[in-house]
Amino acid sequence: MPDKITKAIVVGASSGIGAAIGERLVTQGAQVALLARREEELYALCNRINEHRGEDLALPVVHDVRERKTIPGLFQDITTRLGGLDAIFFTAGVMPHVEPDEYSTDKDALMIEVNTIGAMAWFNEASKRFERLNKGRIVGISSIAGDRGRRRNPAYSTSKAAMNTYLESLRNRLGVKGVSVTTIKPGFVDTAMTKGMSGLLWMISPEKAAGKIVRAAEKKKNTAYVPGQWRLVGTIIRSIPSFLFKRLNI
Ligand SMILES: NC(=O)c1ccc[n+]([C@@H]2O[C@H](COP(=O)([O-])OP(=O)(O)OC[C@H]3O[C@@H](n4cnc5c(N)ncnc54)[C@H](OP(=O)(O)O)[C@@H]3O)[C@@H](O)[C@H]2O)c1
Repeated sequence: MPDKITKAIVVGASSGIGAAIGERLVTQGAQVALLARREEELYALCNRINEHRGEDLALPVVHDVRERKTIPGLFQDITTRLGGLDAIFFTAGVMPHVEPDEYSTDKDALMIEVNTIGAMAWFNEASKRFERLNKGRIVGISSIAGDRGRRRNPAYSTSKAAMNTYLESLRNRLGVKGVSVTTIKPGFVDTAMTKGMSGLLWMISPEKAAGKIVRAAEKKKNTAYVPGQWRLVGTIIRSIPSFLFKRLNI
Protein backbone atom coordinates (compact mmCIF):
# COMPACT_ATOMS: atom_id res chain seq x y z
CA MET A 1 0.00 0.00 0.00
CA PRO A 2 1.39 3.45 -0.93
CA ASP A 3 1.93 5.90 1.97
CA LYS A 4 -0.90 8.34 2.50
CA ILE A 5 -0.16 12.06 2.35
CA THR A 6 -1.13 13.71 5.66
CA LYS A 7 0.32 17.24 5.37
CA ALA A 8 0.61 19.06 2.07
CA ILE A 9 1.04 22.38 0.31
CA VAL A 10 -0.81 23.05 -2.97
CA VAL A 11 0.43 26.16 -4.78
CA GLY A 12 -2.14 27.48 -7.27
CA ALA A 13 -5.23 26.09 -5.59
CA SER A 14 -8.02 28.67 -5.95
CA SER A 15 -9.56 26.92 -8.97
CA GLY A 16 -9.27 24.04 -11.42
CA ILE A 17 -6.82 21.18 -10.88
CA GLY A 18 -5.14 22.69 -7.78
CA ALA A 19 -8.49 23.25 -6.00
CA ALA A 20 -9.50 19.66 -6.81
CA ILE A 21 -6.15 18.30 -5.52
CA GLY A 22 -6.67 20.25 -2.27
CA GLU A 23 -10.20 18.93 -1.89
CA ARG A 24 -9.12 15.38 -2.67
CA LEU A 25 -6.33 15.45 -0.07
CA VAL A 26 -8.65 16.84 2.63
CA THR A 27 -11.26 14.18 1.79
CA GLN A 28 -8.53 11.63 2.52
CA GLY A 29 -7.96 13.29 5.92
CA ALA A 30 -4.87 15.40 5.10
CA GLN A 31 -4.15 18.91 6.40
CA VAL A 32 -3.53 21.10 3.39
CA ALA A 33 -2.37 24.68 2.83
CA LEU A 34 -4.00 26.06 -0.34
CA LEU A 35 -2.22 29.00 -1.96
CA ALA A 36 -3.21 31.45 -4.71
CA ARG A 37 -3.80 35.15 -5.33
CA ARG A 38 -7.63 35.34 -5.39
CA GLU A 39 -8.52 35.68 -1.72
CA GLU A 40 -12.30 35.41 -2.09
CA GLU A 41 -12.16 32.18 -4.17
CA LEU A 42 -9.57 30.67 -1.85
CA TYR A 43 -11.49 31.36 1.37
CA ALA A 44 -14.81 30.22 -0.15
CA LEU A 45 -13.16 26.97 -1.29
CA CYS A 46 -11.53 26.28 2.08
CA ASN A 47 -14.77 27.08 3.96
CA ARG A 48 -16.70 24.69 1.73
CA ILE A 49 -14.10 21.92 2.06
CA ASN A 50 -13.85 22.33 5.86
CA GLU A 51 -17.64 22.44 6.32
CA HIS A 52 -18.03 19.30 4.23
CA ARG A 53 -15.30 17.53 6.16
CA GLY A 54 -16.49 18.80 9.56
CA GLU A 55 -13.00 19.94 10.66
CA ASP A 56 -10.59 22.72 9.68
CA LEU A 57 -8.09 20.84 7.51
CA ALA A 58 -7.87 23.32 4.58
CA LEU A 59 -5.77 26.41 5.34
CA PRO A 60 -6.09 29.34 2.88
CA VAL A 61 -2.90 31.34 2.19
CA VAL A 62 -3.03 34.32 -0.19
CA HIS A 63 0.15 34.39 -2.26
CA ASP A 64 1.49 35.46 -5.65
CA VAL A 65 4.32 33.14 -6.79
CA ARG A 66 5.99 36.12 -8.49
CA GLU A 67 6.73 37.49 -4.97
CA ARG A 68 9.80 35.27 -4.81
CA LYS A 69 11.42 36.87 -1.79
CA THR A 70 8.46 35.98 0.44
CA ILE A 71 8.64 32.24 -0.36
CA PRO A 72 11.33 31.01 2.12
CA GLY A 73 9.56 32.70 5.07
CA LEU A 74 6.11 31.59 3.93
CA PHE A 75 7.31 28.00 3.48
CA GLN A 76 8.65 27.95 7.06
CA ASP A 77 5.49 29.52 8.42
CA ILE A 78 3.22 27.01 6.64
CA THR A 79 5.24 23.94 7.68
CA THR A 80 5.11 25.19 11.29
CA ARG A 81 1.34 25.75 11.10
CA LEU A 82 0.80 22.30 9.56
CA GLY A 83 3.20 20.69 12.06
CA GLY A 84 5.24 19.10 9.26
CA LEU A 85 5.04 18.43 5.52
CA ASP A 86 4.81 15.24 3.42
CA ALA A 87 4.21 16.68 -0.03
CA ILE A 88 4.17 19.80 -2.17
CA PHE A 89 2.09 20.14 -5.35
CA PHE A 90 2.86 23.06 -7.69
CA THR A 91 -0.18 23.63 -9.92
CA ALA A 92 -0.03 27.41 -10.45
CA GLY A 93 0.02 28.19 -14.13
CA VAL A 94 -1.00 30.76 -16.71
CA MET A 95 -1.52 30.43 -20.45
CA PRO A 96 -2.60 33.79 -21.96
CA HIS A 97 -4.07 33.66 -25.45
CA VAL A 98 -1.36 34.18 -28.06
CA GLU A 99 -2.26 34.95 -31.69
CA PRO A 100 -0.53 32.81 -34.36
CA ASP A 101 1.46 35.89 -35.50
CA GLU A 102 1.95 37.44 -32.04
CA TYR A 103 5.37 37.73 -30.37
CA SER A 104 4.87 39.30 -26.94
CA THR A 105 7.80 39.35 -24.52
CA ASP A 106 5.46 40.47 -21.70
CA LYS A 107 3.24 37.39 -22.10
CA ASP A 108 6.26 35.11 -22.49
CA ALA A 109 7.91 36.52 -19.35
CA LEU A 110 4.70 36.07 -17.35
CA MET A 111 4.47 32.37 -18.29
CA ILE A 112 8.11 31.71 -17.43
CA GLU A 113 7.85 33.69 -14.19
CA VAL A 114 4.72 31.92 -12.92
CA ASN A 115 4.91 28.43 -14.47
CA THR A 116 8.66 27.87 -14.21
CA ILE A 117 10.43 30.25 -11.80
CA GLY A 118 7.49 30.05 -9.37
CA ALA A 119 7.77 26.26 -9.36
CA MET A 120 11.55 26.37 -8.86
CA ALA A 121 11.22 28.81 -5.95
CA TRP A 122 8.74 26.57 -4.08
CA PHE A 123 10.53 23.32 -4.97
CA ASN A 124 13.86 24.73 -3.76
CA GLU A 125 12.41 25.31 -0.28
CA ALA A 126 10.80 21.85 -0.24
CA SER A 127 14.02 20.23 -1.53
CA LYS A 128 16.10 21.68 1.31
CA ARG A 129 13.65 20.38 3.91
CA PHE A 130 13.02 16.97 2.33
CA GLU A 131 16.73 16.34 1.66
CA ARG A 132 17.49 17.02 5.33
CA LEU A 133 14.72 14.65 6.46
CA ASN A 134 15.39 11.97 3.79
CA LYS A 135 11.70 11.87 2.85
CA GLY A 136 8.96 13.82 1.10
CA ARG A 137 7.19 14.19 -2.21
CA ILE A 138 7.55 16.89 -4.84
CA VAL A 139 4.89 17.03 -7.54
CA GLY A 140 4.92 19.40 -10.51
CA ILE A 141 1.93 19.88 -12.79
CA SER A 142 3.52 20.19 -16.21
CA SER A 143 1.64 19.45 -19.48
CA ILE A 144 1.71 17.35 -22.61
CA ALA A 145 2.45 20.72 -24.26
CA GLY A 146 5.99 20.51 -22.83
CA ASP A 147 6.86 17.35 -24.78
CA ARG A 148 7.57 19.31 -27.99
CA GLY A 149 7.83 22.94 -29.10
CA ARG A 150 4.27 23.61 -30.25
CA ARG A 151 3.50 26.42 -32.69
CA ARG A 152 0.40 27.64 -30.77
CA ASN A 153 2.08 29.12 -27.69
CA PRO A 154 5.89 28.87 -27.76
CA ALA A 155 6.51 30.24 -24.25
CA TYR A 156 3.88 27.98 -22.65
CA SER A 157 5.52 24.88 -24.20
CA THR A 158 8.89 26.21 -23.07
CA SER A 159 7.70 26.86 -19.51
CA LYS A 160 6.53 23.24 -19.21
CA ALA A 161 9.58 21.72 -20.97
CA ALA A 162 11.78 23.65 -18.51
CA MET A 163 9.73 22.32 -15.62
CA ASN A 164 10.15 18.76 -16.95
CA THR A 165 13.94 19.07 -17.11
CA TYR A 166 14.12 20.79 -13.74
CA LEU A 167 12.04 18.05 -12.10
CA GLU A 168 14.17 15.33 -13.72
CA SER A 169 17.29 16.96 -12.28
CA LEU A 170 15.69 17.21 -8.84
CA ARG A 171 14.66 13.53 -9.10
CA ASN A 172 18.23 12.55 -9.86
CA ARG A 173 19.52 14.63 -6.93
CA LEU A 174 16.89 13.70 -4.37
CA GLY A 175 15.85 10.16 -5.36
CA VAL A 176 18.95 8.75 -3.67
CA LYS A 177 17.93 10.64 -0.49
CA GLY A 178 14.48 9.03 -0.27
CA VAL A 179 12.55 11.95 -1.79
CA SER A 180 10.17 11.25 -4.68
CA VAL A 181 9.77 13.75 -7.53
CA THR A 182 6.77 13.30 -9.82
CA THR A 183 6.19 15.06 -13.15
CA ILE A 184 2.51 15.21 -14.08
CA LYS A 185 1.62 15.70 -17.74
CA PRO A 186 -2.11 16.34 -18.07
CA GLY A 187 -3.88 16.27 -21.42
CA PHE A 188 -7.02 18.44 -21.50
CA VAL A 189 -8.80 19.22 -18.25
CA ASP A 190 -12.09 21.13 -18.03
CA THR A 191 -10.96 24.29 -16.19
CA ALA A 192 -10.78 28.07 -16.72
CA MET A 193 -7.61 27.46 -18.76
CA THR A 194 -9.47 25.47 -21.45
CA LYS A 195 -12.73 27.48 -21.31
CA GLY A 196 -14.01 28.32 -24.78
CA MET A 197 -11.69 25.86 -26.57
CA SER A 198 -13.63 23.37 -28.64
CA GLY A 199 -12.94 19.84 -29.87
CA LEU A 200 -10.42 18.96 -27.16
CA LEU A 201 -9.52 15.27 -27.10
CA TRP A 202 -10.19 13.10 -24.00
CA MET A 203 -11.21 16.07 -21.82
CA ILE A 204 -11.60 15.08 -18.15
CA SER A 205 -12.89 16.88 -15.06
CA PRO A 206 -10.48 18.49 -12.58
CA GLU A 207 -11.74 16.04 -9.93
CA LYS A 208 -10.84 13.04 -12.08
CA ALA A 209 -7.44 14.58 -12.85
CA ALA A 210 -6.84 15.27 -9.14
CA GLY A 211 -7.59 11.64 -8.21
CA LYS A 212 -5.01 10.41 -10.72
CA ILE A 213 -2.44 13.04 -9.67
CA VAL A 214 -2.72 12.25 -5.95
CA ARG A 215 -2.47 8.51 -6.70
CA ALA A 216 0.65 9.04 -8.82
CA ALA A 217 2.21 11.03 -5.96
CA GLU A 218 1.31 8.36 -3.41
CA LYS A 219 2.85 5.69 -5.64
CA LYS A 220 5.98 7.88 -6.05
CA LYS A 221 5.80 7.70 -9.85
CA ASN A 222 8.51 9.49 -11.85
CA THR A 223 6.17 10.70 -14.60
CA ALA A 224 2.42 10.30 -14.99
CA TYR A 225 0.36 11.26 -18.02
CA VAL A 226 -3.20 12.20 -16.99
CA PRO A 227 -5.20 10.35 -18.18
CA GLY A 228 -2.80 7.51 -18.98
CA GLN A 229 -3.60 7.21 -22.70
CA TRP A 230 -1.65 10.44 -23.30
CA ARG A 231 1.57 8.49 -22.61
CA LEU A 232 1.29 6.79 -26.01
CA VAL A 233 0.51 10.11 -27.73
CA GLY A 234 3.47 11.73 -25.96
CA THR A 235 5.78 8.92 -27.02
CA ILE A 236 4.67 9.24 -30.66
CA ILE A 237 4.86 13.05 -30.66
CA ARG A 238 8.38 13.01 -29.19
CA SER A 239 9.56 10.54 -31.83
CA ILE A 240 8.35 12.54 -34.88
CA PRO A 241 11.39 13.99 -36.67
CA SER A 242 11.57 17.80 -36.78
CA PHE A 243 11.29 17.97 -40.59
CA LEU A 244 7.82 16.35 -40.26
CA PHE A 245 6.79 17.94 -36.96
CA LYS A 246 7.14 21.47 -38.35
CA ARG A 247 4.51 20.64 -40.99
CA LEU A 248 1.96 19.50 -38.40
CA ASN A 249 -0.44 22.07 -37.03
CA ILE A 250 -0.17 20.99 -33.38
N1 LIG B 1 -6.57 22.63 -18.01
C1 LIG B 1 -5.78 21.91 -18.80
O1 LIG B 1 -6.22 21.32 -19.81
C2 LIG B 1 -4.32 21.72 -18.44
C3 LIG B 1 -3.59 20.81 -19.21
C4 LIG B 1 -2.24 20.62 -18.91
C5 LIG B 1 -1.67 21.31 -17.86
N2 LIG B 1 -2.41 22.19 -17.13
C6 LIG B 1 -1.74 22.89 -16.03
O2 LIG B 1 -2.47 22.68 -14.83
C7 LIG B 1 -2.22 23.74 -13.93
C8 LIG B 1 -3.53 24.22 -13.34
O3 LIG B 1 -4.31 24.85 -14.35
P1 LIG B 1 -5.90 24.73 -14.44
O4 LIG B 1 -6.22 24.09 -15.72
O5 LIG B 1 -6.43 24.16 -13.17
O6 LIG B 1 -6.30 26.27 -14.60
P2 LIG B 1 -6.84 27.37 -13.57
O7 LIG B 1 -8.16 26.99 -13.03
O8 LIG B 1 -6.71 28.66 -14.28
O9 LIG B 1 -5.80 27.31 -12.35
C9 LIG B 1 -4.61 28.02 -12.34
C10 LIG B 1 -4.23 28.25 -10.87
O10 LIG B 1 -2.97 28.93 -10.85
C11 LIG B 1 -3.07 30.01 -9.95
N3 LIG B 1 -2.15 31.08 -10.29
C12 LIG B 1 -2.01 31.72 -11.48
N4 LIG B 1 -1.09 32.69 -11.38
C13 LIG B 1 -0.63 32.66 -10.10
C14 LIG B 1 0.31 33.43 -9.38
N5 LIG B 1 0.99 34.45 -9.95
N6 LIG B 1 0.53 33.14 -8.08
C15 LIG B 1 -0.15 32.14 -7.47
N7 LIG B 1 -1.06 31.35 -8.11
C16 LIG B 1 -1.30 31.64 -9.40
C17 LIG B 1 -4.53 30.47 -10.06
O11 LIG B 1 -4.92 31.17 -8.89
P3 LIG B 1 -5.07 32.77 -8.78
O12 LIG B 1 -5.50 33.30 -10.11
O13 LIG B 1 -6.10 32.93 -7.69
O14 LIG B 1 -3.72 33.25 -8.35
C18 LIG B 1 -5.24 29.13 -10.13
O15 LIG B 1 -5.48 28.64 -8.84
C19 LIG B 1 -1.46 24.81 -14.72
O16 LIG B 1 -0.09 24.75 -14.42
C20 LIG B 1 -1.67 24.39 -16.17
O17 LIG B 1 -0.62 24.82 -17.00
C21 LIG B 1 -3.72 22.42 -17.39
